[in-house]
Amino acid sequence: MAKTKSVYICQNCGVDSPKWIGKCPSCGEWNSYVEEIISKDTSPKIHIAGIQLVKQKPILISDVITTEETRIDTSCNELNRVLGGGLVPGSLVLIGGEPGIGKSTLVLQVVLNMKGKRTLYISGEESVTQLKMRAERLKFQNPDCYIVSETSLEQIFVHVQNIQPDVVIVDSIQTMATDTIESSPGSVSQVRECAAAILKFCKTSAIPVLLIGHINKEGSIAGPKVLEHIVDTVLQFEGDQHYMYRILRSIKNRFGSTSEMGIFEMQQNGLREVSNPSELLLSQNHEGLSGVAIASAIEGIRPFLIEVQGLVSSAAYGTPQRSSTGFDLRRLNMLLAVLEKRAGFKIAQKDVFLNIAGGIKVNDPAIDLAVISAILSSNVDIAIAKHVCVAGEVGLSGEIRPINRIEQRILEAEKLGFEKMIIPDFNLKSLNLSKLNIQLVQVKKVEEAFRVLFK
Ligand code: TYD
Ligand code: MG
Repeated sequence: MAKTKSVYICQNCGVDSPKWIGKCPSCGEWNSYVEEIISKDTSPKIHIAGIQLVKQKPILISDVITTEETRIDTSCNELNRVLGGGLVPGSLVLIGGEPGIGKSTLVLQVVLNMKGKRTLYISGEESVTQLKMRAERLKFQNPDCYIVSETSLEQIFVHVQNIQPDVVIVDSIQTMATDTIESSPGSVSQVRECAAAILKFCKTSAIPVLLIGHINKEGSIAGPKVLEHIVDTVLQFEGDQHYMYRILRSIKNRFGSTSEMGIFEMQQNGLREVSNPSELLLSQNHEGLSGVAIASAIEGIRPFLIEVQGLVSSAAYGTPQRSSTGFDLRRLNMLLAVLEKRAGFKIAQKDVFLNIAGGIKVNDPAIDLAVISAILSSNVDIAIAKHVCVAGEVGLSGEIRPINRIEQRILEAEKLGFEKMIIPDFNLKSLNLSKLNIQLVQVKKVEEAFRVLFK
């Protein structure tokens, strides 16, 4: 017998409570509890795991037979790499991102190009004609792609049964709803229930599902954190809407590394894969301009060269401004303090602006040295010579700390025609320099780097 009952659920973390609470005791969020009606099946259940109920029995790990893991080629090299070599059959992949960033475009483009695979695109946000209009802007290669506009979870499974696709797309999880729960689509209980049902479907049918999820204003995947625990892989699609670059990052991956990153460029007719990011990010000619430094950075496992721009000017108001795009502001403040205190540069009374070109966010600490170089270059108004790049982490006492995977960074710089590279002193010990054409300059302290760059 089904009985309806209402509970209060935290829309941030998914914890429930029989009564309303102002501050969630689990995640600390204020005002996040919303009443949701759930129907509870009160028919008696057997709680004791009797022997007759056990369908699976434990076996020795050495006795498990494994076959060569097959991956489905998604026809998109960047997506394949982020997934760890392709789509794993029976996996549930969540693609999260802000509205308008291009999630629907990405997945539609992928399914339209998956040759030889039958795909089913279920959209709860767009009508079939709107989908067709979008598809017409993109390149068409796979005629075996079915589309349907549907928001009922039960109906989705009927469609899948009828079509028998190889890959299913659900756009988006926040618009789907199941009849078994009475709360509105997008609420925590609906999202959780739908995701759990889709996961069960994936595991039993071995059909992979790409699930699209929206990101809320705090930057996490909207609704529950629980969603991230349910799925096998969480990919985040990010970028600045005003720039054309989009980055696909892996946040969680049960079948591959999470340090992978794919770069796309949004164009008139869809997303273009960027297989060599350095050339794109360095295309401008900045010879003779002060305040520009090139860093050899690594995001994911790929090295690329990136342009860091700094501007230092006298503060127009009493309090100097510090602003940074694409780089952590607190870290910028820390680097400025190091320059002031350890290296004796007088910038406390100056405005400092920092920008990473291309609208890309970089977390690699090895770009510290480029940040400092760009700021100093602007401060003394001397341009850094062309074909010089830098890589190094800056410590609190102004020392240049060693960085990881230095060989990859050097090879990338060399490949792009750089002639000189400034690297941390400690890193040089482990290097095999025999076949390098690039000149390496090792530095121990910020002042040394300054001397090399502006002598
Ligand atoms: P969309 O995939 O609808 O975003 P999401 O599903 O993440 O909400 O992307 C919409 C944006 O992409 C829109 O601002 C227009 C742009 N766009 C292009 O620039 N070129 C294209 O070919 C397409 C289809 C979209
Ligand atoms: Mg969309």
